Amino acid sequence: MDSINVTGGRALEGTIPIAGAKNACLTLMPATLLSEEPLTLTNAPRLSDIRTMSRLLASLGAEVSPLSDGLVLAMSSHALNGDRADYEIVRKMRASILVLGPLLARLGHAVVSLPGGCAIGARPVDLHLRALEAMGAKLDLRDGYVHAKAPAGGLRGGDVEFPLVSVGATENALMAATLARGTTRLRNAAQEPEIVDLARCLRAMGAQIAGEGTSEIEVQGVDRLHGATHRVVTDRIELGTYMLAPLIAGGEVTLGGGRRDLLEAFCERIEAAGAEVRQDATGLTVRRANGALRAVDVATEPFPGFPTDLQAQMMALLCTAEGKSVLEERIFENRFMHAPELVRMGACIDVQGGQATVTGVERLRGAPVMATDLRASVSLILAGLAAEGETTVSRVYHLDRGYEHVVAKLRGVGARIERVRAND
Ligand code: UD1
Repeated sequence: MDSINVTGGRALEGTIPIAGAKNACLTLMPATLLSEEPLTLTNAPRLSDIRTMSRLLASLGAEVSPLSDGLVLAMSSHALNGDRADYEIVRKMRASILVLGPLLARLGHAVVSLPGGCAIGARPVDLHLRALEAMGAKLDLRDGYVHAKAPAGGLRGGDVEFPLVSVGATENALMAATLARGTTRLRNAAQEPEIVDLARCLRAMGAQIAGEGTSEIEVQGVDRLHGATHRVVTDRIELGTYMLAPLIAGGEVTLGGGRRDLLEAFCERIEAAGAEVRQDATGLTVRRANGALRAVDVATEPFPGFPTDLQAQMMALLCTAEGKSVLEERIFENRFMHAPELVRMGACIDVQGGQATVTGVERLRGAPVMATDLRASVSLILAGLAAEGETTVSRVYHLDRGYEHVVAKLRGVGARIERVRAND
């Protein structure tokens, strides 16, 4: 298995280009199932999760071009010939559940394996299922699969009130509702930029949607959707991750294409910790405002709050900030697996349930550490940028799911980092 070696202690200077959002792309791709006409995505990221979704769509009969160097992903679902998302593919990636709503809306039936994905909590799919039931679907859970059937005549519009905010359930319901008969109202809907991006793409395909980006989305079902070309929104999690790099390692880095409005709560927290963030037409530029970093408290929330997908990376920053920071994880119950690894590097962290208290230490020391999930793995690389000596991060296949060219991007701004191939 490959690993990544990072040698800390070098300040970073230059520009890192930010890719299209993995999480947006993973919901935009299944939208192709809603139409017989082609859907083309530009600015798609080159990631293993995107290849997994391509394989899943292909297994249903969709045609998906290999991602070209122009980052174009051309898809067509004119000849769908399957309604079954098999465990073999779904277990690799939780976002596979996002084919359920579109298949049900287009074909009237679907069989989708219950998902796996990152080991960061129980992560059930009950909210996805409840939303589809509100549109008339009949669901049967057996053998680890959801067997779903739409009523005769297809899904119908429904009123869905989510008891808690779910990004994926909002996306599944939104896609299904575009072809349902009548009006669907989604209350307590997720407001993430990826939902707004999905709504824009669906609208370009002919869907009638209002209210995306607020907690109430209204969809007027239409008979059919047509083809479209859509540019994937910037990856705000990759953006936030690399914004932390010059704060941790020192120096000044511009994040090409970065937008503050994608990460307002995050920007506010890093500014409180001592960052200076400047927006201009090319992107966001980040450096330490003056000298030392200060402790800050962080609580993760659905958008527009502080993203859970940046909690691990923020913890890496706070390991060397002066004072005591409290990080509260409110979205996933088991998302501090990076903490013991950071402790191996000399960090002082005390985890009690959903709360981690980080007491800043003067410096971290390089160590062999292990990536446990996607965001945890990049937090260890960030920590390695500041640590004295060499850090070796193993199990980096997690990283390949969500960060394209991480080594090249960090080397481009002067980091000492290399990937060691397993057979080297
Ligand atoms: C998406 C993101 C993920 C991010 C998360 C929260 C993608 C591909 N993934 O995941 O990177 O960390 O949003 O911002 O976009 N829940 C239920 N029942 C459900 C669905 C969710 O109880 O049916 C719970 C989850 O266990 C979790 C919370 O709701 O505690 C939020 O999860 P959700 O927003 O659905 O996350 P995902 O869509 O899986």
